Amino acid sequence: VSDYTPAVTLAERSLAAVADHIRSGKAHRIVVMTGAGISTAAGIPDFRSSETGLYAHLAALNLPYPEAVFDLDFFRTNPKPFYVLAKDLYPGTFCPTISHVFIGLLASKGLLAQLFTQNIDCLERAAGIPADLIVEAHGSFASQRCIDCGAPFPDDKMREHVARAEVPRCIHSQAKGYGRYNRFVCNRASSHGRCIGLCVGLVKPDIVFFHKALPELFYERWNLAETADFALVLGTSLSVNPFAALPDSVPEPVPRVLFNSERVGSLGTRADDVLVLGDCDTGVRKLADALGWRDKLETEWRQLVGDQEAGRQLQGMTKRVRDEVAQLASQVDQVLHLDD
Ligand code: OAD
Repeated sequence: VSDYTPAVTLAERSLAAVADHIRSGKAHRIVVMTGAGISTAAGIPDFRSSETGLYAHLAALNLPYPEAVFDLDFFRTNPKPFYVLAKDLYPGTFCPTISHVFIGLLASKGLLAQLFTQNIDCLERAAGIPADLIVEAHGSFASQRCIDCGAPFPDDKMREHVARAEVPRCIHSQAKGYGRYNRFVCNRASSHGRCIGLCVGLVKPDIVFFHKALPELFYERWNLAETADFALVLGTSLSVNPFAALPDSVPEPVPRVLFNSERVGSLGTRADDVLVLGDCDTGVRKLADALGWRDKLETEWRQLVGDQEAGRQLQGMTKRVRDEVAQLASQVDQVLHLDD
């Protein structure tokens, strides 16, 4: 919108006006929508940033196209590149950022109606945001199952496989009767000396791969965006549908605030859109300042992640993420060449 278009709901398009609006109690059904950008400070690369994004580095490799690592047909023929990435992206080694903790603060103040995240890193849970307030629209690493028979695979075994970048195979026997079995391998003898048919299908974390349906919960909770009285969008390029359409379903003149390196989607086209371009943690800190929540926010974050990690995140992440992505890309390259 042009600078001359006045805001309708907010006093003006500024963080100070946003803070006034929240403090006045007019925003108590806040919907938050996030993407990979809120986790980059934690050391997890995003997907589409030109220098530090995962896809830019995978583009040079022998993959049919970079997104193939998240494509089920490619995974069926070659699951190894995915597991090489999974080893480094697996939850447990990363800590929440101040942006995650800010969303947690909204929840603890009873202001968060729903968080919709595209991230698979489980850092929202680690930040203490209650599970029922989170929709993991693209799934997560929190559970896994066989892509053939659908049988769940144990968490501890998954962790062991991922740590070794090994592809896990379904261990369910025919007798368990899971779903549709399309092959069985007789590779273990029972105590009676008879063969037990094992499924041995490929196991995949419950991450939504391209062209696959999102969890039903995403659609069930969609109306919370339509009935929200305030929306925050953080760290996403809004380039993958249907998630990308979610901010558009927030009705006008409900204020929408974007914390992102760049302008994305339709954000910035409405009278009550506030764009805070740049690093999202910096933007969130500014909003916390304006709200008078900064001390609480910093204290909760430090208590959660510890001083060392806090210092690491504050030092800046560009070089760290660039190194991390280059390392991941070379590992995937190695695996692809071994396959050749
Ligand atoms: P993208 O990599 O597409 O977009 C991340 C956005 O965050 C970009 O606009 C960056 O400029 C911005 N960004 C990065 N670091 C930031 C920072 N510290 N502060 C502010 N902005 C920052 O990631 P997503 O939008 O999450 O799908 O991608 C959507 C989906 O595409 C992902 O869920 C993934 C991918 O294919 C699956 O994993 C299934």
